[in-house]
Amino acid sequence: MAESQEEHGLSAVQREWLVFGAAWLATGAYIGHAVWQGPQQVGERPLASPGLWAANHLGALAFMWLVAALACTPLRIHLRATWPARWRRRLGLSAALLSGIHVAVWLVADQSSAAAVLKSFQEHIWLWPGALALLGMALLTATSTAAAVKKLGAKRWKALHRLVYAVAVLTVLHYALRSTADVQHWMAFGIAVAVTLWARRLRPLQ
Ligand code: HEM
Repeated sequence: MAESQEEHGLSAVQREWLVFGAAWLATGAYIGHAVWQGPQQVGERPLASPGLWAANHLGALAFMWLVAALACTPLRIHLRATWPARWRRRLGLSAALLSGIHVAVWLVADQSSAAAVLKSFQEHIWLWPGALALLGMALLTATSTAAAVKKLGAKRWKALHRLVYAVAVLTVLHYALRSTADVQHWMAFGIAVAVTLWARRLRPLQ
């Protein structure tokens, strides 16, 4: 470690944080660009309200970070490396943070009262898998600390954190069941989730 620090000036951990910072910078740049452009017409579809439009972008970004977190376990298995385990936590927490912002933006910019939120949930079945996914993410976030691993024991903690796959499937449903959903987009996310699930079951190459 000391040797690699001397060679490159930065330790492995510092380089990881640099890459993580760059990924957040790219996320920030994406949001900045979207805000600068404002809501855009996609094909024949009517222009979304600014609240829905912003919620959409944030939801898609949250999903991208979630898929990146899911990719960590197959990468750890097949590359026989430990670094993906560290990335899994920070990518997962980033996905949870973006999901929280996604929902907060929708509540503040598109819903006028608690009654309006209730009405939305009555009218739009696809909001339910989203809410369940958010609950799952909250549970995963609350138990993401070293103290939680110690308290639950490694075996039970590992079993609980498989919940991330249910969260991913619920998010695909949340995305796909919307009448205005872009088929290619939600299918691409669905395929990405399926590939990460499939790849973690494959035996690593000898
Ligand atoms: C209580 C929880 C949630 C609520 C109320 C909610 C609400 C919404 C709303 C209002 C939209 C926009 C729909 C439209 O344009 O008609 C949306 C889209 C979306 N949401 Fe959520 N959401 C929730 C949880 C989540 C979670 C946990 C994720 C996980 C990453 C997520 C990911 C997405 C995605 C990927 C889209 C579609 C983005 C696109 O079309 O580009 N949502 N959600």
